Amino acid sequence: DTGYFTYDPGFVSTASTRSAITYIDGDKGVLLYRGYPIEQLAKHSTFLETSYLLINGELPSAAEFSVFEHEVTHHTMMHEAQKNFLNGFHYDAHPMAMLCASVASLSAFYHDTLDMDDPEQRRLAAIRLIAKVPTIAAAAYRSSIGWPVRYPRNNLEYVTRFLHMMFEVPSEPLDLNPVVAKALDLLFILHADHEQNASTSTVRLVGSTGANPYACVAAGIAALWGPAHGGANEAVLSMLTDIGDAKNVASAVTRAKDKDSGFRLMGFGHRVYKNFDPRATIIREMTHKVLADLNIKDPLLDVAMALEEVALKDSYFVERKLYPNVDFYSGIIYKALKIPTEMFTVMFAIARTAGWVAHWLEQQVTPDSKIGRPRQVYTGSAERDYVALNKR
Ligand code: SDX
Repeated sequence: DTGYFTYDPGFVSTASTRSAITYIDGDKGVLLYRGYPIEQLAKHSTFLETSYLLINGELPSAAEFSVFEHEVTHHTMMHEAQKNFLNGFHYDAHPMAMLCASVASLSAFYHDTLDMDDPEQRRLAAIRLIAKVPTIAAAAYRSSIGWPVRYPRNNLEYVTRFLHMMFEVPSEPLDLNPVVAKALDLLFILHADHEQNASTSTVRLVGSTGANPYACVAAGIAALWGPAHGGANEAVLSMLTDIGDAKNVASAVTRAKDKDSGFRLMGFGHRVYKNFDPRATIIREMTHKVLADLNIKDPLLDVAMALEEVALKDSYFVERKLYPNVDFYSGIIYKALKIPTEMFTVMFAIARTAGWVAHWLEQQVTPDSKIGRPRQVYTGSAERDYVALNKR
């Protein structure tokens, strides 16, 4: 009993870790960041303020936020040598490959944040990661399309600065619709943290060995890339495109129920939520608003809505409590914001860097934190003696 939430003893004994950052009730569809409901943060907060909350445990005062924002802004540049690093990739490298490698390489540039016993070095590493991941992400995208890297304009706020680094063309100033920055900021809030998901657990496991924070977050990026995790948003869009029209939805649902087909409805199901993912509910409403505000008619939205309607009535999905998750609609919004498909999971990584960093910091200061060492049930051969080659 943690004083607020009670767990059954069976759950407590299997839980891999204790954390004060994010609370999820999968049956009720509840998601709290440091006790604040995601619906309220989505309505009232910004991604950078939510990052402060996740890291520090409290919402900042105006003065605290101003200091935090100044520090993040002060660290947005990436080392000039990192541009050469990015240019070394093959022209069609996936931006997640470039992001993962580049974040790991930060440990080669910033030796003043490698002593994990120094609280100030830990704090600075956290600030650097929040500040530099968007810069690296935008630079990875631009070098993959042969555009010159855009330096961060530090007179802009966090998400607008990222969009400028992504899309500002050399010839003319970027005419950015404020709807786009607001929508992306909200998506970043919704993707910022999610308890012990695969990528965050990876960051904590790597962090438990004392590895540097850049290597830890790079490991998280690698884990997020998988289509069963953060890669699902990119996979949802290709699934909706393949389905093509609402009239094909029934056959897609039938295919997804056939185990042998190897086909799953991407954006559906969740290891924890056995009810609606509260983020999916917010993103669904947001999708309609953003497309209306931007005056976009996307036929994929009709396909998504038809797919959701059919699946939610189908006994296979109902019995298995498979609901749309955070990835089901997010790709449609990213598309409306003109984010290239190959950058969808990178968007997820930018946002989840806040959660990864918060968990990494929490683990570093946990007094009895030990090296992670999952155990297994052995299913191999019984003990046996070696057989010489000429006798095999
Ligand atoms: C994220 O952990 C997190 O918090 C992750 C995340 C975060 O914020 O960090 O929320 C982000 O990763 C969201 C999930 C994105 N991935 C997808 O949308 C990919 C599609 N979904 C599935 O692959 C699956 O639902 C998972 C991986 C998300 C969850 O897998 P589970 O809970 O381990 O489910 P399972 O594989 O044990 O399946 C249970 C049953 C199986 O059928 P039976 O064996 O009981 O007959 O449900 C079926 C599965 O075949 N099933 C699906 C399905 N998901 C599960 N059938 C069709 N389509 C699906 N999407």
